[in-house]
Amino acid sequence: MRKVTSGMERRGKCLGIRVLVGRVGGRRGRRAAVLIVATACVCLAAVTAKAQDTDEYFKTNCATCHTIGGGPLTGPDLKGLSERQPDRQWLIDFIVDPKRMIDQGGYGAKIFAEAGGKTYMPAGPGITAKRAEKLLDLIDEESKKEVSRFVGAGQKLKPFTSQNRADGYEYFLGRKKFVNGGAACISCHSMYDTPALGGGRLGPDLTNVSERLKGAKSLMAWLGAPQTETMQPIYKAPHELTPDEIHALVAYFEASAGNSPSEAPASRVAFLLMGLVGAGAMVFAMDAVWKRRFRGVRRPLVEGSV
Ligand code: HEC
Ligand code: HEC
Repeated sequence: MRKVTSGMERRGKCLGIRVLVGRVGGRRGRRAAVLIVATACVCLAAVTAKAQDTDEYFKTNCATCHTIGGGPLTGPDLKGLSERQPDRQWLIDFIVDPKRMIDQGGYGAKIFAEAGGKTYMPAGPGITAKRAEKLLDLIDEESKKEVSRFVGAGQKLKPFTSQNRADGYEYFLGRKKFVNGGAACISCHSMYDTPALGGGRLGPDLTNVSERLKGAKSLMAWLGAPQTETMQPIYKAPHELTPDEIHALVAYFEASAGNSPSEAPASRVAFLLMGLVGAGAMVFAMDAVWKRRFRGVRRPLVEGSV
């Protein structure tokens, strides 16, 4: 599974501006444009870095995957981090560029494997060595507390009711709309009980997904900020899923445990049939249209010759 780092996303935005400015300025303006854009990017990064203090930064960019003392989510519990990895510089380098440090092997490869060996942690937006250091200080400080603010209390599970599960099903199918306008999950995913034609095939079948992603809590955090290349642009602010919507979806996913994924071959046959029926309908439609056109041409001709 590939993950988008926010760094890449930012570069993407900068490129976008660069292309725009490049067009406006023409060939001669290009060098100036690149300069302007480079400056703009640096400024933007600086502004975002200043606007968020370390606490706030951790809450929005790290707590979706990590607790401090609340157990693992997508990423490991960070309590006691410095005891596991006393090499401060290594941790700083890791937070700034996780993929590089994992690919170097050693401790990086070890925590990667322990977290499932599939997902590279994304680098935080606008992350710098200085910010990483502050984050590590925060983690150390919170690790010493009996109960950290980042134990994940915000994600304490409310019980799932059958109403929640029913709502989740409706959201999944798109019969109930997400208030922030995110796309229905069925356009890319199927579930064991998706009706008739099944769901989209771009994403994996989500039956038992809660188990795959290490439980309801972790799945909830994941859906709060889906980091996959395909889903991130669709569900990021202002189109994020609300806590209630996530709660309902997770209730539905939890209830799918023990079922088998929808049968892909069956829905392929359904698609094929739909295709055939569709083609048949097209032939009839064309036939009707052409018949009329033909008469439309022939009638004046015939009448004219009489
Ligand atoms: C999308 C989920 C995700 C986000 C967001 C995330 N991490 Fe991680 N983090 C992981 C995973 C998964 C690992 C385990 C290594 C791997 O597989 O990449 C990890 C590992 C770590 C480790 C090493 C833990 C250990 O036991 O040695 C630290 C430190 C860390 N993350 C800090 C952070 C900080 C700080 C942030 C916010 C800037 C952050 N993470 C954001 C998923 C995430
Ligand atoms: C535009 C297509 C698209 C939409 C819409 C979409 N997803 Fe995804 N989703 C994907 C893809 C593709 C993946 C596989 C990861 C990847 O490579 O990006 C994925 C992965 C996932 C995963 C992780 C599955 C795993 O086994 O690791 C979950 C959970 C998930 N999606 C839930 C949802 C939910 C819930 C919705 C609706 C709110 C949704 N998705 C809507 C495309 C989509």
